[in-house]
Amino acid sequence: MVRRVSRYGQRMQIGVPRERANKERRVGAVPASVKVFVNWGWDVHVESDAGTAAGYTDSAYIAAGASIVASTNEAHNAHLVIRVGPPTPDEIALIPEGAILTSLLNPFVDTDLIALCNARKISSVAMEAVPRTTLAQAMDALSSQATAAGYAAVLMAATESPKLIPMLVTAAGTIKPSRALILGVGVAGLQAIATAKRLGAQVHAYDVRPETREQVESLGARFVEAPTHAADDGGYAKEVDDETAAKQQAILADYVARSNMVITTAQIPGQAAPRLINADIVERMAPGSVIIDMAAKSGGNVEGSVVDEVVEVNGVRIYGPSDLASRVATDASAMYARNVQELVNRMRPADDDAPNEASIRLDDEVVGPCVISHNGAIVNDRTRSVMGLQSLATAAPPPTEEPISGSKESA
Ligand code: NAI
Repeated sequence: MVRRVSRYGQRMQIGVPRERANKERRVGAVPASVKVFVNWGWDVHVESDAGTAAGYTDSAYIAAGASIVASTNEAHNAHLVIRVGPPTPDEIALIPEGAILTSLLNPFVDTDLIALCNARKISSVAMEAVPRTTLAQAMDALSSQATAAGYAAVLMAATESPKLIPMLVTAAGTIKPSRALILGVGVAGLQAIATAKRLGAQVHAYDVRPETREQVESLGARFVEAPTHAADDGGYAKEVDDETAAKQQAILADYVARSNMVITTAQIPGQAAPRLINADIVERMAPGSVIIDMAAKSGGNVEGSVVDEVVEVNGVRIYGPSDLASRVATDASAMYARNVQELVNRMRPADDDAPNEASIRLDDEVVGPCVISHNGAIVNDRTRSVMGLQSLATAAPPPTEEPISGSKESA
């Protein structure tokens, strides 16, 4: 089943607004991805200064074939709007009915926003919902942004730490290397280990999934011997029981206490982040030590961490930054833009020789799971469940199978 989304009597128009969220420096399309869209015969409208904070100038977008538009209204008035962060309700109102919105949307938590998109018959495509499969790797924005964030977390810790990172043998004495501990060895954790190793730290790491031991060791770090258990069928960690959590914490406590920098990345999808470091463990750390809690936004791996704030306990500083990927916005944007470009490419009908059309194929194994609202219905079962709606398998079919008009209000 192929559901066409845009049968426009005009060229397909892509809008790339400037992100306005606090601390957001990334942009949803970069000149390289613009060039690809333009080669498909599409028009790309980039809001003035959309890429400036990430290092992409208006003139670079023009050279890639985009037009620069002065207002956010114009950038949102497109058949396909490409953003990094979720739009505000005011921004949603600028998107024409029937258009496609591709963005990070937090679709399993922020269902009010999804409801607003749905009320405007916007086809919302959430980059977080790209399946974590080999086939979809090039579209996996969670991985690309976690890679950037894991790297940035270590640099932040290195900058905030009063210690040198590598071992130095100097005439003024020998400096011992910093001891770094990485907790949670998913995509962000692996990049954090690699970055800390490159800086010359002595690195220990731990994850509850046993298969991470080999990954940790292959990066030259040491695996902490604490309890592990198998992941779920999707490859994600399962919540540990209280007894295991207590054992983990007891073993980790000594490593945390000895570390100069600790980066925590542990997450369990759909749940609050597991607590790995309690306040009494923090108190055992040496003053000047730094903790970066990458899970602060989802409840925190560290007791007392606060999103986007620094909390000091006996000279130990705990940070809960939410903008890590944005701190390396040039490359985070380049990777994100490539993820979006690949996903949009997959949305195009394979047999379509008319380049000014996009389609959303709900039965496609990569595109389908990313589509949250479409054609006036919530079509993602996980979002439906969070919203208290019946599963689509048992619910009545979506209101219409007709193509979305895609009528752009003032193209
Ligand atoms: P995530 O952000 O959901 O979690 C980060 C890490 O925290 C995970 O490694 C998890 O095992 C760990 N964790 C959870 N509870 C913990 C606890 N109590 N103690 C210690 N560690 C704990 O993970 P991410 O980076 O999104 O990756 C999740 C899974 O998806 C991994 O298995 C990864 O290998 C897999 N993946 C597969 C891809 C593919 O096949 N294309 C691409 C990306 C990820």
